[in-house]
Amino acid sequence: MKIILIAAASENNVIGKNGKIPWDLPDDVKHFRDLTQGRAIVMGRKTFESLGKPLPKRRNIVVTHSDRIFDGCETVHSFEEALKVCADESEVWVIGGGGIYREALAIADRIEFTRVHATVEGDAFFPVVDRSDWNLKKSLHHPIDAKHQYAFTFETWERKVPPPESLS
Ligand SMILES: NC(=O)c1ccc[n+]([C@@H]2O[C@H](COP(=O)([O-])OP(=O)(O)OC[C@H]3O[C@@H](n4cnc5c(N)ncnc54)[C@H](OP(=O)(O)O)[C@@H]3O)[C@@H](O)[C@H]2O)c1
Repeated sequence: MKIILIAAASENNVIGKNGKIPWDLPDDVKHFRDLTQGRAIVMGRKTFESLGKPLPKRRNIVVTHSDRIFDGCETVHSFEEALKVCADESEVWVIGGGGIYREALAIADRIEFTRVHATVEGDAFFPVVDRSDWNLKKSLHHPIDAKHQYAFTFETWERKVPPPESLS
C-alpha cells in the first residue's frame, strides 16, 4: 500500500486558519479532486468538519479520539487504525490536517504538495520536511490570474529509496 500526502501550504507552511483554508485557488481544488477521486482519503476530525460533508466518490475515513459517528464516513481512533482498515487499498491519501500529516510523513511514499506563493497568517501548519529524504519528481508553476489570487506550484515529492544493504 502506498501512503500519499496531499496538501497545500503557504511559504510559511500555513495550511489553515480558523477551520478554513486561507485562499481560494480553484485549479488547486480541481487538482485535489482529480488525484483523490476513487481513492481512500484519511483526515483529522477538524478537517472533516471544515469540509462539512464526506467528499463524493471517495472512501472517507475520519480520525478522532471520540466515539462520534460521521455520516457517510468510517470513523477510526488512530492513524494506525486508518491504515488497518485500508489494508486492501493500493493507495491511501492523507488529506490533513497538521497532526495527521506529521504522523503520516514518517512513513509516506509520496507527497503531492501545492506550494502557495504567499505568506499568510494561520493556526494549522504542514510539518517541516527534511528534503534530504525526498526527491522532487515534478514541478508545475501556475501564475496569478483572474481566478487565482496567488501563484502556486504543484510539486510531486517521492521518498528516496534507501540504498541496498551491504552484502559484506
Ligand atoms: N491546505 C491544506 O491542504 C489543508 C488540508 C487539510 C486541512 N486544512 C486545514 O487545516 C485545518 C485543520 O487541521 P488541524 O491540524 O487543525 O486539525 P485536523 O488534523 O484536521 O484534526 C485534528 C483532530 O483530529 C483528531 N486526531 C488527529 N490525530 C489523531 C490521532 N492520532 N488519534 C485520534 N484522533 C486524532 C483529533 O480529533 P478529536 O478532537 O475529535 O479527538 C484532533 O483534534 C483547517 O483549517 C483546514 O481547513 C488544510
